[in-house]
Amino acid sequence: MNQHSLLPTNTEEIKTARRAGHRAAELRRAIERHNHLYHTLDAPEITDEAYDALFRELEDIEQHYPQLRTPDSPTLRTGGAVLPSLETRAHSVRMYGLDNVFSAAEWNAFAQRAARQLPEAAPDITGAWWADPKLDGLAVEITYENGVMTQALTRGDGSVGEVVTEAVRTVRNAPLRLLGEGPFPVRLEVRGEILMFRKEFEALNRRQQALGQKTFANPRNAAAGSLRQLDTSVTASRKLRFLAYSAGLVEFAPGQPRWHTHSELMAAYQAYGFQTPVDGRLCLSPAEAEQYYRELEARRDELPFEIDGVVYKLNDLDAQEALGHTARAPRFAVAWKFAARQARTTIRRISIQVGRTGVLTPVAELEPVSVGGVMVSRATLHNEEEIHRRDVREGDTVIIQRAGDVIPEVVGPVSPASPGRAEPFAFPRSCPVCGSPAARLEGEAAWRCLNLSCPAVSMRSIVHFVSKAGLDVQGVGARWVEKLIEAGRVKTPADLFTLREEELVGFERMGEVLAAKFVQAFDTALHSAGLARFIAALGIRQVGEQTARTLAGHFADMDALEAATADELMELPDIGPEVAASIRAFFANAANRELLERFRALGLWPRREARAEPRQTPLNGKRMLFTGSLSRPREEFQRLAESAGAVIVSGVSRKLDYLVVGDNPGSKLDKARELGVAILDEASLKRLLGGSE
Ligand code: IVH
Repeated sequence: MNQHSLLPTNTEEIKTARRAGHRAAELRRAIERHNHLYHTLDAPEITDEAYDALFRELEDIEQHYPQLRTPDSPTLRTGGAVLPSLETRAHSVRMYGLDNVFSAAEWNAFAQRAARQLPEAAPDITGAWWADPKLDGLAVEITYENGVMTQALTRGDGSVGEVVTEAVRTVRNAPLRLLGEGPFPVRLEVRGEILMFRKEFEALNRRQQALGQKTFANPRNAAAGSLRQLDTSVTASRKLRFLAYSAGLVEFAPGQPRWHTHSELMAAYQAYGFQTPVDGRLCLSPAEAEQYYRELEARRDELPFEIDGVVYKLNDLDAQEALGHTARAPRFAVAWKFAARQARTTIRRISIQVGRTGVLTPVAELEPVSVGGVMVSRATLHNEEEIHRRDVREGDTVIIQRAGDVIPEVVGPVSPASPGRAEPFAFPRSCPVCGSPAARLEGEAAWRCLNLSCPAVSMRSIVHFVSKAGLDVQGVGARWVEKLIEAGRVKTPADLFTLREEELVGFERMGEVLAAKFVQAFDTALHSAGLARFIAALGIRQVGEQTARTLAGHFADMDALEAATADELMELPDIGPEVAASIRAFFANAANRELLERFRALGLWPRREARAEPRQTPLNGKRMLFTGSLSRPREEFQRLAESAGAVIVSGVSRKLDYLVVGDNPGSKLDKARELGVAILDEASLKRLLGGSE
């Protein structure tokens, strides 16, 4: 008997085949449910191994009975189909673009115009706008017939798109079959964005680079390139996501209640198993909608993916229809774009900056240009490898990018193939300041000057000492400190405290007022510097402001810190072997010990202050972590919590005392629940902060 015959012939076999059919259906449902839990809700219920076992069982059945492989089978998610070319197909309803506005005035004008144009009959619904992030990916439309995914098209030119059905099946958070019991629309065209999370994008570029293959300029290009693949096993390996934000044609099932608002549509999508843009929210007035824009812009960099503005949609679907479209875009929806964070300019020259830790950083000196409202004349090129990877050369016209508080960077040249370009930049093999040979430490991309007394290194360390990240000496410009160092009057940070007004007056035309202010500033710092600031100011490798605060909370003074063993240090939150070793190395260095003795002699010897320690607040010494969005920027709450004695940590573990949870918290919340960590909402956090604000 042929075990692999498609049509079973005897009764036993028919029974087995039927059982296999039932089991396959059961497995498909279970696998898709776990997929949804894992990829959309970020809350898996079973281990990866258990999931793999279900998956393999289904694969086995399908291999044995190919007729049981349905179009919604999760086994299709692994890709493998190789298409000869991408076909094109017409959209049943045109996919319009969106008009843009760039200011509050333009947004208000748009909202008022929509209100005016709306028929008299519906004046009370004009105020409600659905707002969500404008996702910077690739728009697609996925069709579900009676709840089963049957087709996916890119937006294309809006009328005709490319067929990417096989590729979209590999997108793990796009349901192959709608969740729930139905009834499902006879036809539902779900529109949304395919995108790649920043983390995935960075990992992909690293992999591509390691394989000597083309890297992508940004997550959007990476998403588009990954989706429009003829070999869908490539798409499957790229971890794309689909976020659903609107609908094309919807044909409801007989008797199925229709949706009346965009909020209802979003709720239905979520129930069907789709992920929708995080932070989507109903705003009840144009003013509230404007507030949403400000909040989202402030949190832009906290999101795991790129966004470039806010999309507003009139919430009432009848009102949407009444307003209709212009030739290009809907009259009921608009995108309010964030200020561009990229700009184009030319590189005058590439210079090398020697940092506080001796790292040689290539810097592009630019024709000044405004990027997102800030003038930029220097941008980092990171390190030697990055210059070559991006193929950036002197004289090039380049794209500059600035994200949040991050140092501006050069993305790459506009036309790398142009004739007559300069030669590739020759990265120096010695320190441009002291001339010592530069070295590249194992596992590091950076070249370093290892000369401990390199003038550039000591200059940067002294400037760091007084800077905001260090003692934060008020009203002392870095430029003056640099001049004093250049003049040889200041050789270590301790020298700054010995400056007298008389010698400053006349120094580079400083003037009496400034000289007095200068001396006063150091005098104030001498008497009021806290231990945490002092530790941070020393510039111990790997010890930033956060770690400095942790140390200052545990050790009475520098003598106590010096006496601590690596093991003792590692008992503190967020201090691992590398940080501990670096602290030990700092004290092992004779020059550092000598510097500390000079500080002690000057009277700059802070002790763990009464201010920061024993004041008993409920948060004192508590380990805290924040997740989700709160009513004010997260940093603000973190700072308040810290000043109440809390220590902010970076991950959920049993050692965590409190997880503070805002809107859309994600997987940290689940993990914290699992580990039994106490959860605080914003109101309870405020109560705990209450006494200490
Ligand atoms: S709604 C009726 N919501 O941006 C409005 N579109 O520049 C239909 N886009 O082609 C679209 N994020 O594909 C909507 N949250 C969002 C969006 C979004 C990105 C895309 C959309 C459109 C493009 C316009």
